[in-house]
Amino acid sequence: MSLLELPFDTVHLWCALTGEHDSAMAEPFALWMSEDERARYERFRLPRDKHQYLATRVLVRTTLSSYAAVPPAAWRFTANQHGRPEIYEPSGVEWLRFNLTNTNGLVACAVIRDGDVGVDAEDITRAGDAASLARRFFAPKEFADFQRAPDAATQRERFAAYWTLKEAYLKARGIGLSVPLEQIAFVLSDDMRDARIEADLSVSDGAESEWQFALLKATDRHLIALATKGTTRRSFGVHVRQGFPSPNGISQTDLGVPRPFGSGVL
Ligand SMILES: CC(C)(COP(=O)(O)OP(=O)(O)OC[C@H]1O[C@@H](n2cnc3c(N)ncnc32)[C@H](O)[C@@H]1OP(=O)(O)O)[C@@H](O)C(=O)NCCC(=O)NCCS
Repeated sequence: MSLLELPFDTVHLWCALTGEHDSAMAEPFALWMSEDERARYERFRLPRDKHQYLATRVLVRTTLSSYAAVPPAAWRFTANQHGRPEIYEPSGVEWLRFNLTNTNGLVACAVIRDGDVGVDAEDITRAGDAASLARRFFAPKEFADFQRAPDAATQRERFAAYWTLKEAYLKARGIGLSVPLEQIAFVLSDDMRDARIEADLSVSDGAESEWQFALLKATDRHLIALATKGTTRRSFGVHVRQGFPSPNGISQTDLGVPRPFGSGVL
């Protein structure tokens, strides 16, 4: 099986749409799961939730197996103190870092060589009280920008942009929700192509200028934010791929450039 190359200066983002649960189809893939994962899988009651969880396991395992000669079932994971999954076994592939996200109808996995990466996806059409969430979790400047949006659709989109950027950044740092979210502020251009971060000293890693962010519209309703910081490189390209990598030789459809936002950011 030929492996994919992951250059130092590129983040690969795999996005797969998730459809209906088909238990017959799911069974072979469920065999890839570790005992812990299987127990969690069994705890989901709704077929839809089971399917979504399984999709994340299949995506992360097939994605990692696209870059290292390791069978999808052989990966074992551990988590840091805030819950960020990392590769535990096999050894020798510590260079391969990943992060995972899922939302209604979509799962995505970002991989990077060395470096830190975080990814977060949001279904823009999801019902929810954006205004009260924004009031609670956004920095004052973010909230003011959110309120300035000229119409409901733009407001919903800007809400999702700030939300996913914050989550992607927190996930890349692996610190979860251990910091006050309103102390991490993003400055976002009107066209959403440029996003930069301003963090209070109390939550800063002292490297704001080294972080890079991108927003991508994966489908009409799915917005994805990526946050990256390399150990040696400061400038990353993003390569977006659609679908699940095939474990028997890589076959995937390149999404082309579905990037109304973010091109040039990473
Ligand atoms: C867990 C969290 C890191 C992301 O959760 P989320 O956005 O609901 O869900 P996502 O699908 O995007 O991400 C979940 C995946 O991230 C990974 N993850 C979990 N903890 C993580 C951490 N501390 N750092 C990085 N990645 C983490 C896991 O792979 C997890 O999926 P899994 O448990 O199936 O393996 C955390 O930020 C959270 O609980 N958020 C709740 C929402 C919130 O209050 N957001 C306010 C932002 S403005």
